[in-house]
Amino acid sequence: SMPQAAELPDTLDQARQAAMQCRRCNLCEAATQTVWGEGSTDARAMIVGEQPGDHEDLQGRPFLGPAGQLLRQTMQQAGLEVAQVWLTNAVKHFKFVAQGKRRLHRNPDRGEIRHCRWWLRLEHRFIQPKIALALGASAAFALTDNDGPMNERRGKIETGLHGGPVLVSWHPAYILRISDAQKRTIALQQLSDDLTSVSRLSV
Ligand code: URA
Repeated sequence: SMPQAAELPDTLDQARQAAMQCRRCNLCEAATQTVWGEGSTDARAMIVGEQPGDHEDLQGRPFLGPAGQLLRQTMQQAGLEVAQVWLTNAVKHFKFVAQGKRRLHRNPDRGEIRHCRWWLRLEHRFIQPKIALALGASAAFALTDNDGPMNERRGKIETGLHGGPVLVSWHPAYILRISDAQKRTIALQQLSDDLTSVSRLSV
């Protein structure tokens, strides 16, 4: 059948409702539900993760699991309140492989990120934040289309596809996986520094 022209939602809430029925890629088939962004609809900063994890998929809200807790705690320490930002993900369905009773996270591919960019772009258009913070390579790719190495990009501001500034930082789940304690502490401090920059840039 003919692909239907996508209708542009008029409001952020209409966009959210439409996203609940999304079938732009096949991640919707195994995931429990679409996980939309949350926070302030007139936020001056948008914080973008990769995709919902196991907890987020079941509960329908972003950043609730271990990585989310680390992010929320680091935001608080950096003086950035959740209520003043828009927290969302590059990809809005959980991608995983089942291993027994466990569901193991899989990175979204470029195609999935590009399909889901439709929603990220809509969120960005309605909220019009002054700055976007990309957490990890998937979010950085979603916002800039640049998939260059993170160690050269972290802490720097790039120009997003929308024409505005994108600060690139580490993903909290990546920080949790660093086994060397000293290296992990440094990366966490860098995330904290980036969140502090976001707090300053969004006044
Ligand atoms: N990791 C993410 O990138 N996003 C979430 O919502 C949770 C964990």
